[in-house]
Amino acid sequence: MTRSTWRTRIGFILAAVGSAVGIGNIWRFPWLTAENGGAAFLTLYLVLVVGVGVPGLIGEFVIGRRSNRNPVGAFDELAGRWYRPLGAIALIACLVILSFYSVVGGWILRYTFASTTGAYFAAPQQYFAAIDYGLGAVGFHVLFLAATVAIVYLGVERGIELSTTVMVPGIVVLFGGLAVWVSTLPGAGGGYDFYLSLDVSYLRENFFSVLPAAAGQALFTLSVGAGTMLTYSSYLGEDRSLAADGTLIAVLNTAIGVLAGLVIFPLLFSLGVSPGQGGPGALFVSLAGAFAELPYSRLVGVVFFGVVLLAALSSAISILEVLVAYLVDEHDLSRGRATLGTGGIFLVTGTVAALSPSVFGLLADTLSNVVLTAGLIGFLLFDGWVLGRLAREEFSRGAGPIARILEAPWYYAIAVVLPVFLAFTLVTSVAGIVGIDVSTALAAAVALTGITAVVLVFRRHGIPVERSV
Ligand code: PHE
Repeated sequence: MTRSTWRTRIGFILAAVGSAVGIGNIWRFPWLTAENGGAAFLTLYLVLVVGVGVPGLIGEFVIGRRSNRNPVGAFDELAGRWYRPLGAIALIACLVILSFYSVVGGWILRYTFASTTGAYFAAPQQYFAAIDYGLGAVGFHVLFLAATVAIVYLGVERGIELSTTVMVPGIVVLFGGLAVWVSTLPGAGGGYDFYLSLDVSYLRENFFSVLPAAAGQALFTLSVGAGTMLTYSSYLGEDRSLAADGTLIAVLNTAIGVLAGLVIFPLLFSLGVSPGQGGPGALFVSLAGAFAELPYSRLVGVVFFGVVLLAALSSAISILEVLVAYLVDEHDLSRGRATLGTGGIFLVTGTVAALSPSVFGLLADTLSNVVLTAGLIGFLLFDGWVLGRLAREEFSRGAGPIARILEAPWYYAIAVVLPVFLAFTLVTSVAGIVGIDVSTALAAAVALTGITAVVLVFRRHGIPVERSV
């Protein structure tokens, strides 16, 4: 069976942007920003998107395009069976993320419907508390999952490419419209001030707690570390510049994230709601409650949650596609069976998350950062130390003159600097989860030792000779 490929370059880019733009931009990002001191967090996050996210994204593209396989098969194809477990981390990341993502997708779907009648207007807090977990949440999770499964079932070109070509421009137009409209509300100015004025002292004092949060978010928002970008790039037919595509995807994702902030913060400030507390309920309680005060409140609710729904759906399909590609490539299943089978798994895992706030919290807050970071460290060390010269060659295939200049800096960043940095944030966040206090120096030492050990093991195994030619 011939493997699918994207029909057009823009189709690939829109699918990747659709994966990147999701509840991470609209739900996680504004609230992390609010919790971590507004513009200080925004600044650090932007630096990390450029410095870590984009090179990481290109690192995934290199493996995907070179192998034309799913994350597990890719390592096998390029360097032998021994490296397959690196891809298994990505599969686990997809399991973790879609299990809670589908629950949030269900909430969003419910709010889109509920906006038509204004059901949550009178008592937003109680409304959310009544629907967040439990059988109702399971029902809407199942509906959201069914939509995800349906698109992936239709395949790369007819399902994913076609739907994201419509959804992504739709997101931009609708959010743009909302942002313009919100700017006309009285009192919106306070939101811009909060969002865009930099408080350097906050950043200086809290640097080491803000850093892992910002790094995790930079990966989450670009869908890096879970093998989604690897899988999408494995469907690339012709050679074009991975660096240019990766940069464009990151720019569009960040622009849409900032646009979401330009809707959310001015809206809250104009209604006198403080962005204060983060957490799962924030978008659904403060913001949804705020809609009730506005003219055309139901229409605003439907449009807002409708856009968020499109964004969530175009990300969910990219996660499901990783597992489907794995089953199709490695276990010779038909796309139909693979999609329905993985859908069945998420039916169960999502139901658990929809019934248990503690499982949900574990998946959404801590575990997703950990698995994405671990996944990306694996990809980058593989690029840097197993593929080596071949990774550089792949980076430059189809690249223009500017991208070629970046080849060497990119290579040293992904082989050395980024793995150590990511391992450092991994150690800090794992220590945080298990509740031990590690000093910065100790975390750095553990990170450096860990990375050196993995590199030594990789160098011993190397690439089987017959493949390296
Ligand atoms: N990038 C998506 C978002 O911002 C989430 C995601 C993470 C999707 C990892 C795929 C893989 O919502």
